[in-house]
Amino acid sequence: DAADLEIGGHDTYLHKEIFEQPESLARMLSGRLDERFATARLDGLGIDPRELRGFKRVKAIGCGSAYYVGQMGASMIEDLARIPADAEAASEFRYRNPIIEPDTLYVAVSQSGETADTLFAVREIQRKGGRVVGLVNVVGSTIARQCDGGIYLHAGPEISVASTKVLTHMAVGFAMLALTLGRVRDLSYADGARIIAGLKSLPEQVQQVLDTDDEIAGAAASLVGAESLFFVGRVRGYPVAREGAQKLKEITYQHAEAYQTSELKHGPLALISTSMPTVAVVPNDELVDRNIGALQEISARGGRVLALTHEGVNLDGLDVQRINVPDGEVELQVVLLTVALQLLAYHVATQLGRDIDRPRNLAKSVTVE
Ligand code: G6P
Repeated sequence: DAADLEIGGHDTYLHKEIFEQPESLARMLSGRLDERFATARLDGLGIDPRELRGFKRVKAIGCGSAYYVGQMGASMIEDLARIPADAEAASEFRYRNPIIEPDTLYVAVSQSGETADTLFAVREIQRKGGRVVGLVNVVGSTIARQCDGGIYLHAGPEISVASTKVLTHMAVGFAMLALTLGRVRDLSYADGARIIAGLKSLPEQVQQVLDTDDEIAGAAASLVGAESLFFVGRVRGYPVAREGAQKLKEITYQHAEAYQTSELKHGPLALISTSMPTVAVVPNDELVDRNIGALQEISARGGRVLALTHEGVNLDGLDVQRINVPDGEVELQVVLLTVALQLLAYHVATQLGRDIDRPRNLAKSVTVE
């Protein structure tokens, strides 16, 4: 409704959209969690449980940030449903003559539902006999109509060119899809219930991230004017790092490169210096000690590190600055880490005086070739 389009007390739409996430997420989740059977209720998918069990692979496609969230989603699906899953940029997929498999579930991810590369990829998959569901925000958009079913994101209108709240909704959409796929396969009732409880806590936990806004603004100040930045993460954290770097590039025009933490030592460590800060995404997962080891290597070479991590992670003795997000279910931590990086990019851009809602050279959706 019209109230959704009001900027209210916010300086930019981006700010408004970041801050409305607790409310929009609660709305998205409402009515979609089935506590009795510890699964999600995704009627729009249009796929019955027997058929759902038959998929041997899941492939997410999307462009830009939607592609990075597809990568987060692929991890969730592998974690919870143990189905091989990956993500690819739709802009690449559509041109490389991909092999379309009838027992792969394709997931088209798009805020606008109008991105030409994604739409073409959907049609190409369908022409060759593949099944595509959509994770789309705009109701009735071309991609939403083209897909064989899907999950509407219900994030409300997103005006700012750089996507924020819709990305969070996409990640939550994938979590619900992963839960649904998991529960018709190996995921136990108890683990399903654990994910449901985690999803129910998310709006409140996202609010807790937003409450650290001043602290994030302070950390942003130390990144302003850096020649270039690394955003590093591994496994679940890597797509978060990619999205964090993307957001920073889009709205601050500062150069940033995302890298797998594990790959730093195979090359880019040579670039670490006092003028190249690193933003490290450190989920509280089974790889936390390895991540801490990598942070030590960066600081030992004179690199400044800002760690985006969870309250429960012990970084004592390390010379790093940290921003904490709440602990939570390991499969859902990416959501909280992503929100913190949205605020970080916002504050760097504000401190640089950028045109935050309309960055140069970018369009909200690319509907032409
Ligand atoms: C454009 C925007 C990006 C966005 C991408 C996909 O390139 O600048 O911010 O992530 O399109 O848009 P979609 O509407 O398909 O999510």
